[in-house]
Amino acid sequence: MSEMGTDGAALEQELERMLEIEKFEPPAEFRERALWSDPAIYEEAAADPVAWWTARSKELLDWDVEPTQGLDDSNPPFYKWFEDGRINASAQCLDRHVAAGNGGRVAYHWRGEEGERRDVTYAELLDSTRRFANALKDLGVEKGDVVGIYLPMIPEVAVAMLACARIGAIHNVVFGGFSAESVRERMEFSEAKALVTVDGARRKGKTAPIKQQVDEEMGGLGSLKTIVVIRSTGIECPMTEGRDVFFEEICAAADPECPAEPMEAEHPLFILYTSGSTASPKGILHTTGGYLTGVAATHRYVFDLRPETDVWWCAADVGWVTGHSYIVYGPLANGATSVMWEGAPDYPHKGAWWETVQDTGATILYAAPTAIRTFIKWGADIPAKYDLSSLRLLGSVGEPINPKAWLWYHQVIGGGRCPIVDTWWQTETGGIMITPLPGITATKPGSATTPFPGVSAEVVDERTGEPVAEGQGLLMLEKPWPSMLRTLYKEDDRFVETYFSKFGEERYLVGDAARRDKDGYFWVIGRIDDVVNVSGHRLSTAEVESAIVAHENVAEAAVIGQSDEDTGQAICAFVTLAGDTAPSEGLDAGIREEVAARIGKFARPKRIVWADDLPKTRSGKIMRRLLRDIAEGRALGDVTTLRDPDVMAELEKQIAAEGDED
Ligand code: WTA
Repeated sequence: MSEMGTDGAALEQELERMLEIEKFEPPAEFRERALWSDPAIYEEAAADPVAWWTARSKELLDWDVEPTQGLDDSNPPFYKWFEDGRINASAQCLDRHVAAGNGGRVAYHWRGEEGERRDVTYAELLDSTRRFANALKDLGVEKGDVVGIYLPMIPEVAVAMLACARIGAIHNVVFGGFSAESVRERMEFSEAKALVTVDGARRKGKTAPIKQQVDEEMGGLGSLKTIVVIRSTGIECPMTEGRDVFFEEICAAADPECPAEPMEAEHPLFILYTSGSTASPKGILHTTGGYLTGVAATHRYVFDLRPETDVWWCAADVGWVTGHSYIVYGPLANGATSVMWEGAPDYPHKGAWWETVQDTGATILYAAPTAIRTFIKWGADIPAKYDLSSLRLLGSVGEPINPKAWLWYHQVIGGGRCPIVDTWWQTETGGIMITPLPGITATKPGSATTPFPGVSAEVVDERTGEPVAEGQGLLMLEKPWPSMLRTLYKEDDRFVETYFSKFGEERYLVGDAARRDKDGYFWVIGRIDDVVNVSGHRLSTAEVESAIVAHENVAEAAVIGQSDEDTGQAICAFVTLAGDTAPSEGLDAGIREEVAARIGKFARPKRIVWADDLPKTRSGKIMRRLLRDIAEGRALGDVTTLRDPDVMAELEKQIAAEGDED
């Protein structure tokens, strides 16, 4: 492979040739050894999905009290799973592996920003988790309380999550790329009692004063009694007497014994805020037994995982659902050894990932298409310098992967021998829903293929809700599954309205458009709502708009997601300035800064178009569809409902002028 890897033209030709290949069958040597290689599994699951999921749950988890019930669907869409079962998530992830004699197994090969290496075993993780669980109890955190977690990718993030799970506290992790203001909002909505954070976080050689930033925002939150600070970088940080404590100190003082308390299967495990159609984020609530069943089963069978021999690497951040399910709960429930990666992919150098595969002997890599596109740009000669022969399976998640990137991943990273599983799912689904099974499914580059056994998906006609056998429509999930969200935290009505109002309370509206081909394969196209996917990060246009209009010189703003070669989608903002403010570069920077402070740097608009006015319907609704057309240089769609058709002509002039400046 390395030969082709270094010759750009030959590789390009090879990929062009491969674009003609419709299907990639699982390699015979993979299929022969796969955990699942018999397609009968699909029929078995479809015949009785509830019984099938119940069997998976008992196969993969050791319940303290085994459930006698599968699904309770007496009050749709508020479904319950395994309701009379009792289980503790942290005991499933830690204690049972240590008890089985695997305490010495590495849970995480951690790779720090500055190239530091630290191996954390299951026994060590259990010890830290017990201590921190006791420390939380000592601080007055009780079962059912919410604990915020705002941390970089350090092993303590798993400790903090599992310590909450151990005592029945509900964790609410906020991605480290969000600003302190976003953290405050999420703590306020969820009435968090404690927040776990760090003194500082490193990024590409710089250190951000996280605790100081948190302090600037966190005043006056009545419910927040404690801030636990992990000394991650050792920088000085402000500590408020009576509220703030150091993690290391409270853990050292805590009792090392902490029996895990069996929880009701439906006890809340975590809340994770995600973006929806409106500016206010949705608190997706997941519970214990069903969620663990879903993530353990999908992690085991989608990735054909062998805990004794595999080295698993999910290159996501714990702050998003992919990290919750496939860095923490899935892999730990299965007793896997994982790589935990703190840094950026190009720091300290652009081959850092491949060096890590080589050094850790990683066998499975699960990454986002945006990362793959970045590696493509850097060139195949970089991975070619490293030994990637340990890899046996590759995964993709977070956004549609274009066939060319799929093929590059397959050839350059996978050496042409590794199956690729393109996995479609969401924060709401908890675990993977549509995916190939690597020992069974023939894959097509760009398609997530078919639903996981026990999952029922359809593409339906937007108006009638009737399934479309072949063609485009809305993606729906037609039956409850164990790891589904249970509600939006404290917003039951919004939960029903958002997901279950379009075609009834038994059909979950995904919010994605998709196409089904002649073989019944699913091709996910993208969001139908005002959610933008930037580098696999989910953002709502309304959220970004409200950050932009917070700038003192802005009168109005409309944000759209524009196709982008690198990031999948990029934020493009149409901005109307207040009074007689004139556009300027300083203003442009000021608006981006405002978005960084209110949401996070990753949400900053890539492009700002100054607009005298915005296209609106007669009832005053902004027509984002037209803005998308104009931003991407397409012919304008239907303009008959516009209140003032001249607005579009003005905007076209503005866009043309923008072109001149470049
Ligand atoms: C998109 C991330 C195409 C989709 C796990 C979904 C995908 C949203 C894929 C959820 C995929 C995720 N192919 N699109 N394999 N995976 N998406 O909640 O639009 O951050 O609705 O969960 O990402 O994003 P979320």
